Amino acid sequence: MISKKVQKVLNDQIKEEMGSAYLYFSMSNWFHTQNLHGFAGWLQHQAKEELEHALKIYGYLHDQNSSAELKALEAPQKTWKSPLAAFQDTYKHEQHITGLINNIADTAIAEKDHATGVFINWFVSEQVEEEAAALAVLEKLKLIGDHPGGIYLLDREMGARA
Ligand code: FEO
Repeated sequence: MISKKVQKVLNDQIKEEMGSAYLYFSMSNWFHTQNLHGFAGWLQHQAKEELEHALKIYGYLHDQNSSAELKALEAPQKTWKSPLAAFQDTYKHEQHITGLINNIADTAIAEKDHATGVFINWFVSEQVEEEAAALAVLEKLKLIGDHPGGIYLLDREMGARA
């Protein structure tokens, strides 16, 4: 059984992961409108991963004889001024999520909840990858600057992920 505090931060995180999925679906949608289908596919893949993150926490709450509380999601941003702006937001968003995951790890320690500590460690490692993946694209976009040819080539590279 998990404490009320742990239950709360895990339920809050389900909303955050669903919100991440919503944000990345919205970005994917915007990239499709820009005819950058490789970026769109990459973000759609990312959105599906976020749904899996939410489901992992949902499953853990049930494994702990608890229950998930599904909260309302806000509508995500719909447009961005450039691919660079979108990936600045992606990287910033992942840093925000890392902070929340670290807070869950801190809460588990404070509550002497070893099971949640072990469970959330997977997310701690995952966030290192999530930040690195977003930053890698962001750095390439910074190098490319305003050159359409570079965006075109990166779009093809991004398309290989899906
Ligand atoms: Fe589930 Fe991208 O963090």
